[in-house]
This record gives sequence, structure tokens and C-alpha cells, in this order.
Amino acid sequence: MKLLDQLNQMERIPAKYALMSDKEKEKRIAEIKAKFGKRLYIPGHHYQRDEVVQFADSTGDSLQLAQLSQDNSDAEYIVFCGVHFMAETADMLTNDNQHVILPDLKAGCSMADMATIEQTERAWVDLQEMFGDTILPLTYVNSTAAIKAFCGRYGGATVTSSNAKKMVEWAFTQKPRLLFLPDQHLGRNTAFDLGISLEEMAVWDPIEHKLETTRPIEEIKVILWKGHCSVHEKFTVEQIRQLRKEEPNTKIIVHPECPHEVVQEADLNGSTHYIIETIKKAEPGTVWAVGTEMNLVNRLAQQYPEQTIKSLNPNMCPCLTMNRIDLDHLTWSLELLEEGTLHHPIRVDKQTTKEARLALERMLNRP
Ligand code: 13P
Ligand code: SF4
Repeated sequence: MKLLDQLNQMERIPAKYALMSDKEKEKRIAEIKAKFGKRLYIPGHHYQRDEVVQFADSTGDSLQLAQLSQDNSDAEYIVFCGVHFMAETADMLTNDNQHVILPDLKAGCSMADMATIEQTERAWVDLQEMFGDTILPLTYVNSTAAIKAFCGRYGGATVTSSNAKKMVEWAFTQKPRLLFLPDQHLGRNTAFDLGISLEEMAVWDPIEHKLETTRPIEEIKVILWKGHCSVHEKFTVEQIRQLRKEEPNTKIIVHPECPHEVVQEADLNGSTHYIIETIKKAEPGTVWAVGTEMNLVNRLAQQYPEQTIKSLNPNMCPCLTMNRIDLDHLTWSLELLEEGTLHHPIRVDKQTTKEARLALERMLNRP
């Protein structure tokens, strides 16, 4: 069933969850977890709310969560605390007897929605006409299962922010050009770090259905899909310059989903995992401004009180779709599971799974 059809058929969360206290909900979650034991597994992305993360059996970034899904063949039920594309990935990497549940189907990702399969198939026809059979498609895991399947079908792979450099290097051993979906910023930042100039990159605009480039197309090595993360795009060079003026001792670390100029201006950049590890290893007394999702920044500030940690953008909002998974939805999903109902199961069809797994395995099986 398509996501939109599922959304239309979706039942609203019963009012009783708004009336229950947090303590009661926490008690119910703990009881149900204890009752199911190893049959139930709750993975949580680092961008999830604290109220949810406290119940996660494992937390991780996108790569770690995909690896955990691949390795977990015990749990019958996986209640995924993250967004839709992550639950799809978990479903595709687990076996048929395992059920993946997303507590709120509205927990999508605006970046993943910026590349539909129809737009991608249409773009591919034009790009093949322009460049011939010289392009390998790579997709950030923040994409739909259909886009992953597209990449699998044409010899490509998935990437995460933790392994993007390694995967782009691999892509160039396969074909002289690559199409990077759906995040132009991660694609541009990664290719630039590997020595590809901005002039050798072009942008495919899926709305206008055209290639944006100032150079002859023979010089293009990387075609970037015109998509972005609405959270990370909010960080700006002005915020960095202002902070440097006011607090010159602050180190600035940002995620590579931020625009290129922001990444260039920052002191350090890297995946969610890299940001966490860098701050964990930093000296007490160091001061950090972090350009990534707010729930994670606030958690880091609490976990490392010996350092000063704040968001690069003081007016930042958390990722709205990640935030949809809250205590109410987690309690609701688990209570339904206890009654024997799989609420909001995520099931990717067999053909899509087969092709998307090719793309995922080309990434996961690389040392
Ligand atoms: P990573 O977990 O790969 O750092 O991705 C960040 C993100 O935006 C997840 O939605
Ligand atoms: Fe999507 Fe950005 Fe939210 Fe991640 S942080 S789920 S990429 S909108």
C-alpha cells in the first residue's frame, strides 16, 4: 500500500493517551517490554526525543541502525523509533517473520519526499540521453525504498553520512560519473572533499526537469539531485561569523547535510556518529556550537556537562517528523501489540525489497 493511502486510512490516536500521565505511560511501556522480552526490539535514532530514547534497546545513526537491523534475527517485533525510510530499511533487512512497526505513520522525512520514483525514472531517461551509459546512481539512505531499488537495479548503492566518502570513491571505480540522490549538500560536500571541484558538479532540478550547470556537460562528474534536509539547511555562514565574533573560543562542528558554505566555514564536519564521538573525546572546558538536530544537541549538553554545548542556531526547532514519535504514540503502538494488533506495520513489497537490498548490501558489505 502507498504511504498516502495508508495515511488516509490512518486512525487517530485515542484521547486516553493525552489524559494519561507520563509516569503511567512509562510504566505501561516498561511492563510491555518486560512481557515481550527478546521478542520485542526498540531501535531509536539519535534525533529522537529523550522520552522515547529512554526505552530504546539501541540508539544509533542511520548506518548503525541499518547494521543493527541486518544483524537482528531474533526479535519478532521491531518498534522503530525513527522515520519512515528507516523503518522501511529495517523491514527490507530483516526476515519475513519479523514485523516492523512505525508508531506514527506521519513520521516521514521531507528530504526523502524530494525524490519520487517517477521523477527519478524520468530524470534517468534524460540523463542517459545526455551522458550515455556513464552514470552510477547512489542514494543517501534518507530516501524511499523505491529509490533504493532504482539504485540497486542500475548497479548503484546506498550511502549514509558515515560512509559517503568511501561509497563515492567506490562509485568512481564503477562508472566515470555519478548521480547522487536526494541530498545535494551531502553529495556536494562529499565529492568536494574527494577533490572534485564545484564546476565538475551539476544539479538536477526534478521540478523544472532540467540540469543546472555553467560548464560543458562533458566536464560533469557528479550530478546532484536538488533535495535538502529542511533541518540542516537552516544553518548559515552568518550564524558562524556572528558566533566567532562574540565567542572566538567556540568550536563549530556541523553535519554534512548543511550547505557547502556552512561546512567550509565550520571547524569540523561529519556524520551524527562523528559529532557524538568528537564531543565525547573533547577536553573538559571546551565550548561547542553544533549544527545538527536539536534533540541530539540538547542530549549531548546534558551528557557532557563538563563542556559547554549549544546549537549553532539558538532559534532552531527539532526535526518535526522525528519528533512525531512521542511517549503517547509509543505507548499506543505497544498496547496494541500487547492486544495482538500490528498497528502501522511497514512492509515493503518483495520486488522492491529484492532490488533495494542489492543497493543496501553493496554498502553494508563493504569493509
Ligand atoms: P545520519 O544518521 O546518517 O547522520 O543522518 C542524519 C539524518 O538526518 C537522519 O535523518
Ligand atoms: Fe529528514 Fe532532515 Fe529530519 Fe533527517 S533531520 S529525518 S533528513 S528532515
